[in-house]
Amino acid sequence: MKIITSIKDQIDYCNSLAKKSENISLIPTMGNLHKGHESLLFQPNLIKNKKIVSLFVNPLQFNNSDDYKSYPKSIDSDIKILEKNKVDCLFMPSEDEILKDINELESFDLPEYMNILCGKYRDGHFLGVFKIVKKLFEIIKPSIAYFGKKDYQQLMMIKYISKKYFNNQISIISCDTIRENSGLAMSSRNNKLTLSQRDIASFVYRELISLKESIRINSNYNYAELQKKSIDSLSVMGIKVEYLELLSSDGFSIKQKNSTDNLMLFVAFYISGVRLIDNIEV
Ligand code: PAJ
Repeated sequence: MKIITSIKDQIDYCNSLAKKSENISLIPTMGNLHKGHESLLFQPNLIKNKKIVSLFVNPLQFNNSDDYKSYPKSIDSDIKILEKNKVDCLFMPSEDEILKDINELESFDLPEYMNILCGKYRDGHFLGVFKIVKKLFEIIKPSIAYFGKKDYQQLMMIKYISKKYFNNQISIISCDTIRENSGLAMSSRNNKLTLSQRDIASFVYRELISLKESIRINSNYNYAELQKKSIDSLSVMGIKVEYLELLSSDGFSIKQKNSTDNLMLFVAFYISGVRLIDNIEV
C-alpha cells in the first residue's frame, strides 16, 4: 500500500491513475478504524477500482477542543487493517498543508436542514466536514466515495456537495451501520468508554427499536409522549439525551400525521461526557 502525505504527491498519483483510465474509490476517515470503517472498504463496487483511504483528524469539525485532543488514534493498527483489506493508497495529509488555504473557500451554502439535529448542537461541525471533504474530492477526484449511514446527516450533506460542486460526477454510496453484538453502533468514540459504559450505551439502540415498534403498531401514536417516555427511561440509566427526533429520511421534515413513510429516528446522547449518535429507519 502506498502511503502519501503530501498533496502534490497525491495529485500526481491520482493523475497517473487517470491516465491509465483507472477509476478511483475514496473512503474518507479520521482513523482509529473499526469494523464500521472496514465495511466501507469491501463494498462490491470497489473490486475494479483503485481504493484510496484518507486519514485525517479534522480539527475544523470539532466544536470542542478537548474532544479533538482526546480523539483516539491508532495509526499502526489502522495501516494493518488497510493492508489486510487491499487498499491501494493511504492519504495522510499534514494538518498545515491541508488546512492552509481551506478557510478561503468560496462562499458556500448548505441546505437549511444542516442546521437541525447535530447542526443545531455542534456549532460549525458540518461546515468543517464540508470544507475537508470538498478539498479531498478536489485532490483525489474519485468516481465513487463511500460514507456510512451512521452519520446520516453528514451523508446527506456529502450527496449535496457532489451534486452542487461536482455535477454528480462522484457517486456517493451509502453504507449500512455496523453494530456491536449488543446493538451499539460502532464508533471510534466507543473507545473512550469502559465496557460497562458501552453496555449502558447499547440501551439507546434497544430504545430506538422499541420506539420504532410503538410507532408502527399504533398509527395514532403521539410522538411527543413516546419521546418523553424514552428520554426518561434512558436518563434513569445515566444517559443524557441531546435530541431524539422522528423525521423524514429525505429532507428531515417533521412527519406527516399518521404516516410511517420514509421516517427515521435520530438520536444524540452523552454517556460519561462522551457524545454518540445513532439512527434507524422506522
Ligand atoms: P469517521 O468518523 O472516521 O468515519 C468515516 C466513515 O465511516 C464515515 O463515512 C462514517 O459514517 C463511517 N462509519 C463510522 N462508523 C460506522 C459504522 N458503525 N457503520 C458504518 N459506517 C460507519 O465521518 C468522518 O470520519 C469524518 O466526518 C469525515 C467524513 C472523514 C470528514 O472528516
